[in-house]
Amino acid sequence: MRSIKSLENIENKNVILRLDLNVPIINGKITDTNRIDKIIPTLNFLIKKKAKIVIISHIGRPNGKIVNELSLEPVSIYIKNKLKKNVLLIRENIFNLNKKDIFKNSNENLALLENIRFYPEEEANEEKFSQKLASLGEIYINDAFSCSHRNHASVSKITKYIPSYGGIQINTEVNALKKITQEIKEPITCIIGGSKISTKISIIKNLIPKFNNIVIVGAMANDVLKYKGLKIGRSMHEGNLDKLINEIFTYAEINNCKIHFPIDARIGKKLNDTYKEKDFDDIDEDDMILDVGSKTVSQIRKIIDNSSTVLWNGPLGYFENSNFSSGSKEVAKHIANKGDKIFSVVGGGDTVAVINSLKIENKFDFVSTAGGAFLEYLEGKVLPGIKALN
Ligand code: 3PG
Repeated sequence: MRSIKSLENIENKNVILRLDLNVPIINGKITDTNRIDKIIPTLNFLIKKKAKIVIISHIGRPNGKIVNELSLEPVSIYIKNKLKKNVLLIRENIFNLNKKDIFKNSNENLALLENIRFYPEEEANEEKFSQKLASLGEIYINDAFSCSHRNHASVSKITKYIPSYGGIQINTEVNALKKITQEIKEPITCIIGGSKISTKISIIKNLIPKFNNIVIVGAMANDVLKYKGLKIGRSMHEGNLDKLINEIFTYAEINNCKIHFPIDARIGKKLNDTYKEKDFDDIDEDDMILDVGSKTVSQIRKIIDNSSTVLWNGPLGYFENSNFSSGSKEVAKHIANKGDKIFSVVGGGDTVAVINSLKIENKFDFVSTAGGAFLEYLEGKVLPGIKALN
């Protein structure tokens, strides 16, 4: 991968910078700025070199349509305040935009294109769109490791049309994960949470032969609980996944990998409720499972104690409501307190938000900004965004 550090003579050149500024925003306020803070060194590097920076990013999943709540405006304001530099938010349709129109004044050097996923062509990895994006600059830099598993126009196809480089953050992430996967020590435990099991099922399958324990938590565990015949009330779940889940358990048995799932829960009647702790037998039809219970936390603590390596992606519950954040926080604190006794790696926006809220980020061996990309890298997959740079 050609690195940004090898770039010379970029003064006054338009540099297209693909970032992952997909940060959580509630009522117009960014609730976790970690992903933006991590790429500030890249922006400072390019500013120092006097480049004209054209940032591309997505936020959320607007499915190719303009969704006002998914504007990058709060992000542009945050960067402006952080760098004390003007940031132009370009809302003009990209198909009508030309390189020379982006920076009209010679003192402007930082522009952010509005959410790239407002265009259906982005996720379709469309040829003409990629070409158009490339035409807006002279050099392309990918510093978005966390979306490099997406075969999208601004991540992969654009590199066909313009000299392309890897940014500071992508290099750090790839080098760290490479080292971790090469030097990983058994027993290895992977804790996987989040909401949709179908999006992670193939990942889980690929991790089974490599890992000793896979702990399935979060809303995606509800499908496993249902498959096991346990009561889940009206909890979030996907349904129709019994065949796939059965395959996972069979495959795990063949490979000597133990699959763990919650043994009790914290429930509420609605998302903003307070909690009650219950065993699955006592779950009522109108209960929603929103966090793991204390017996599950104890079980996970024991699994961690018997591991040499712990990898974690995805919260254990609906941590946005503090009444249901205890499972995620207890597990985070337990991993952090193990110190040098285990090697710990955490990835994913929500998971990192949990450890940031506890101010324990520096107690983990590596914290990746990536969620899906982190897991796909662990699977051993070649990520399209990285492949394109190579
Ligand atoms: C992430 O948050 O993992 C990345 O921004 C990718 O987002 P996506 O899963 O919507 O592609």
